[in-house]
Amino acid sequence: MATYEQIFENNRKWVADMKAKDTDFFEKLAREQTPDYLYIGCSDSRVPANEIMGLEPGDVFVHRNVANLVNNTDLNVMSVINFAVKHLDVKHIIVCGHYNCGGVKAAMTPKDMGLLNPWLRTIRDVYRLHEDELDSITDEQKRYSRLVELNVIEQATNVIKIAGVQKNYQKQGYPIVHGWVFDLHSGILIDLNIDFKNILKRIQKIYDLTGIASKHNEDGDD
Ligand code: CO
Repeated sequence: MATYEQIFENNRKWVADMKAKDTDFFEKLAREQTPDYLYIGCSDSRVPANEIMGLEPGDVFVHRNVANLVNNTDLNVMSVINFAVKHLDVKHIIVCGHYNCGGVKAAMTPKDMGLLNPWLRTIRDVYRLHEDELDSITDEQKRYSRLVELNVIEQATNVIKIAGVQKNYQKQGYPIVHGWVFDLHSGILIDLNIDFKNILKRIQKIYDLTGIASKHNEDGDD
């Protein structure tokens, strides 16, 4: 574990390394950011966004919280997504969970967690939505892993419910929303291959925020 002082030594070395690779690196970095990716992941220290994707500074806009949740009343995550979509014009939005997630584990534990209750409640709701499937898995570790995956799928679905995401997609064919899981044991990123178009179509029965449905009604179309 690095000491506090070592962090600044590491930083100087990193600056030197980056300049050795590209003398203009920091001039370019300071100009502006144009990342194609928004990554929403867990705060867990073992899942560093840029490193696991092999991406450089400037390549990915990042938001992290406990158990990678996308709550529509969380001003923080909503601001990040709206900024990424409206101003950075990102092409892909990734919700990335990870197996052995402490937040998901805590949510599976039927116990009063104090201040964490309202946060964990979102994951407990994911369990309730998928209760039949999860209860049919007898192996607890496997059930835990499946809840991690289902939580990613539900949080990705929450991203797809956002008006700005739907409107941009309608206009330009992106952003595409993805769900990934990081496996701490192997270091491998797993794409859950969520069917973005199908989820969008399915949820728009209730969550169509593009204005198309209401316009049709006003016009007396269908
Ligand atoms: Co976690």
